[in-house]
Amino acid sequence: MDFKVWTDYLKAAQLVTDCGYYGTVEPADLAGTELYALAENDEDLVACIMVIRSGAQAYVDYLVVRQDCRGQGLALLLTDCVAHVLYKQKVRLVHSCVSGENGASAKMLMKYGAKIGWPYINGLVRLEDSNGNAED
Ligand SMILES: CC(C)(COP(=O)(O)OP(=O)(O)OC[C@H]1O[C@@H](n2cnc3c(N)ncnc32)[C@H](O)[C@@H]1OP(=O)(O)O)[C@@H](O)C(=O)NCCC(=O)NCCS
Repeated sequence: MDFKVWTDYLKAAQLVTDCGYYGTVEPADLAGTELYALAENDEDLVACIMVIRSGAQAYVDYLVVRQDCRGQGLALLLTDCVAHVLYKQKVRLVHSCVSGENGASAKMLMKYGAKIGWPYINGLVRLEDSNGNAED
């Protein structure tokens, strides 16, 4: 299993879509982002994560492990590898947003010592139309 920068947006979009958590994700949705992966034989995508940078901060999302490979510590492994890359590149603050119902992700965030609230304000804004409607 190799950790690598992943450039095949088609396969990544397929893996993310197949997991069912994020809805349909098109390759174009990933354009301009950095993808990292765990892969077998150089091309079999097993897990991926997306990073968007903003100076010394980064936002991570689309953490997905292929269904048949879950429960083996791969999400933690991939997250650790990416954390090392980002730290070496001077990123010091990582943002992530998970649904409170997602036990697996919440547990991972807590393992990383994720802080809720102070000293930062994590602002979530739901966008609606002028009638107060929001389509998902
Ligand atoms: C979340 C996800 C990435 C975890 O991948 P994984 O490789 O199975 O996770 P790991 O084996 O590295 O486990 C990481 C920790 O989460 C825990 N965990 C994994 N799946 C879990 C679940 N369904 N419920 C509760 N905890 C879970 C593990 O027990 C482990 O903690 P531990 O070491 O204390 O046991 C995977 O389930 C997935 O791809 N889910 C669909 C997409 C998703 O929800 N992405 C994250 C959104 S932010």
